[in-house]
Amino acid sequence: MKVLEIKKALSGEISVSADKSISHRAVMLGSLARGKTVIHNLLLSEDVKATMSAFKALGVKMSLIGNTLEIEGSDFSLSAPDSALDLGNSGTTTRLIMGILASQNFEVRLIGDESLSKRPMNRVAIPLTLMGADIRAQGITATLPVTIHGGALHPLNFDIPVASAQVKTALIFAGLRAQGKSRFVEKMKTRDHTEKMLPLFGGKVEVNNLEIQVSGPQNLVGTSLTVAGDFSSAAFWIVAALIIPDSDILLKNIGINYGRTGLLDVVTAMGAEVELLNLDEKQETADIHVKYTEDLHATEISGELIPRCIDELPILSLLATQVKGETVIKDAKELRFKESDRISSIANLLSKMGAQISTREDGMIILGKANLTGIEEIELANDHRLVMTAIIASLVAKNGSNFPENIKAIVSTSYPDFFKDLELLCH
Ligand code: S3P
Repeated sequence: MKVLEIKKALSGEISVSADKSISHRAVMLGSLARGKTVIHNLLLSEDVKATMSAFKALGVKMSLIGNTLEIEGSDFSLSAPDSALDLGNSGTTTRLIMGILASQNFEVRLIGDESLSKRPMNRVAIPLTLMGADIRAQGITATLPVTIHGGALHPLNFDIPVASAQVKTALIFAGLRAQGKSRFVEKMKTRDHTEKMLPLFGGKVEVNNLEIQVSGPQNLVGTSLTVAGDFSSAAFWIVAALIIPDSDILLKNIGINYGRTGLLDVVTAMGAEVELLNLDEKQETADIHVKYTEDLHATEISGELIPRCIDELPILSLLATQVKGETVIKDAKELRFKESDRISSIANLLSKMGAQISTREDGMIILGKANLTGIEEIELANDHRLVMTAIIASLVAKNGSNFPENIKAIVSTSYPDFFKDLELLCH
């Protein structure tokens, strides 16, 4: 598939695909609650489908009409599946479901694709084992296949050593069913969708800055909710509009949770003017208006900003190749444990296209104002965010690039409407 250098500006308005983090959590909490849950505008991406299939295999009844999902909740009474749960490419499904299975009194084997099978699960396996779950996995980092046999859990007082919303959520899910009060402390603030969604299901969780307390056992009740657009998907167009001359676009009804919008802080520090319209603080949504900005300049992306833009660092790296000066990304070692080792995969991709990047164990140094050229053969490591970054890079690269046909399947991990939205913005 050829993606050509774009000769004109991006324009118009779109609503991007729905939020992946919120969709996973809504399916999971709906499956655990008592009674009916209705989720409107659910993201039907491959990762969320993996979550739906897993809960169906655990005995939960659900029916989909368009992108509205109705779930008949199990009131925390899941049943043992007939075979291993295949979680595909989805790290979020795997880590979060481990927190749920930790309190279910049966054995489940979890498997996944090649990329997921390399990712560390010890970050959840260790604290869940301390709570009483029996978990077996591969090697020192506890990779898949993982076998988990849950049961009665004790509460836990635990400082989470990595800034990870996945680990935090797994522990909150386990804490809901433990006998007593658990206390978890985050290293840095990460997305708090779980904490915000639980009260909608009648759940109680106390949050005090980085400290989360949850008392168990708790039951949940079904509810109805609507998922907004995914900021991480919108990020590709925010950057595209900033670097393609004369662009002017509006991204409608996008989730703007504080733990997700570090990219807005980064582009503002670079000199961009990105406007939030129709801001709804309660729903955490806004329309995002972005215009091409000349003379953007480099900045440092580090510290507490990192977990707030962790999934946007691939596309921010592309932006860094186009602004004036040297952008430093540090404190981002977590990037090495994503769908690919994103420090090396991003650096490889953008260097092959002509950018000057040096890598560090925990980040990159990226020289700006690079003239990118398209490439004939791209190695994309089966990583959806790397593929979308490569496509946006090809729009500004001389001569465009050739991609293998399977990129559509890879992109549908998180953003099934990506190519449709690309066409809408290019016409
Ligand atoms: C996610 C949290 C992040 C993010 C992932 C989704 C979530 O992972 O990278 O795409 O939905 O909780 P970590 O929390 O492990 O950094």
